[in-house]
Amino acid sequence: MLDRPGQFRRAGRINGIEISQIVQISETAAQMRADGLDIDALSTGVPDFPTPDFVVTAAHAAALAGQTGYTATAGTNALRDAIAAEHGAERGQVVVSAGAKQVLANAMLATLDPGDEVIIPTPYWTSYSDIVAMAGGTAVTVPCPMAQGFKLTPDALAAAITPKTRWLMLNSPSNPSGAIYTADEIRALAEVLRHHAHVWLLADEIYEHLSYVEFISFATAAPDLADRTLIVSGVSKAWAMTGWRIGWGVGPVPLIRAMTAVQGQVTSGACSVSQAAALAALQGDRSLLTERLVDLDTRRQMVVAGLNAMRGITCPEPDGAFYAFPNIEALMARGGFATCGEACTWLLDKAHVAIVPGSAFGLPGHARISFAYGQTELNTGLSRIAAALKTLR
Ligand SMILES: Cc1ncc(COP(=O)(O)O)c(C=O)c1O
Repeated sequence: MLDRPGQFRRAGRINGIEISQIVQISETAAQMRADGLDIDALSTGVPDFPTPDFVVTAAHAAALAGQTGYTATAGTNALRDAIAAEHGAERGQVVVSAGAKQVLANAMLATLDPGDEVIIPTPYWTSYSDIVAMAGGTAVTVPCPMAQGFKLTPDALAAAITPKTRWLMLNSPSNPSGAIYTADEIRALAEVLRHHAHVWLLADEIYEHLSYVEFISFATAAPDLADRTLIVSGVSKAWAMTGWRIGWGVGPVPLIRAMTAVQGQVTSGACSVSQAAALAALQGDRSLLTERLVDLDTRRQMVVAGLNAMRGITCPEPDGAFYAFPNIEALMARGGFATCGEACTWLLDKAHVAIVPGSAFGLPGHARISFAYGQTELNTGLSRIAAALKTLR
């Protein structure tokens, strides 16, 4: 049948891809606020700190000095060198992109053919499965329940690998669970990968500097897999630079070249002024990061204790990032909610607190509360949830 002239038709490659649930919830909360309601949104992963002053100053100076044209597609030499030094790599192994998200998209677009599989331990950051699907691949999600610390086990990894597997996508520290893989855990997963030379490893370490316990990079724990490891990181989270849109990938040269080729046709490269800002961030004093981490740790303990004091909520301590990811199944049973999405909608309507259902991360029965917010907002949010829960049986 012929389409009617002018009728909009989506490409098959974006079938099922919608605006992320996190964005939808945050936008609903923003709309409710605009309608005059007092909404406490604890839903997004945007640090409430400002970008450090010295970073803003460096960006301003770069713009005034005329660094306002296209840069090399893979990024400026100065920034790539700083990133290479940070990761113990060479400049040719580094590509700078418009955020870690574009690094992930570039990697998938550059490597996946239809039907290729990507193993994604669940819960996972919402965009992973959509990026894989958009690139024509198949996301193979592997449940990693709370009882196993939300982490992938070597046996589960081995069972998920097929001849079509191209990548394992690992995220440590994890959004949403905060889980951090120990050196031994990484080594055990690496041992499985050693038996499957066709499987590459993407380690998303964007929250590396937001760790409350020891963090170890996959690249450090399993250096022998360097020729098939892509490390993804950036300045968005630790330096509070989400709007500057700078992330990077560090990996084998042929992969970085392929990713750069993709990027060249999509954005031509990351923003020149933002690259100068990211360079200043990497080269600058990091004591501010430590101070902020101490502050976040206080909030983490406050939120975990507050949630665990509520009947129906069980919240493990996250080791990194700035999210609590409690189990809310008992709360759902108390309130007669069929899904965690229903429970979160009820909390938004009843308590005016916006949090994200675990289903958005592939693990129903949970909810994600971001503690990248001020202590007043967190306290208000916690007491509103507690008050709403008291109205349940
Ligand atoms: C696990 C994870 N990876 C990547 C990103 C994207 O980072 P960026 O803002 O640098 O694109 C996020 C942002 O929330 C994230 O949580």
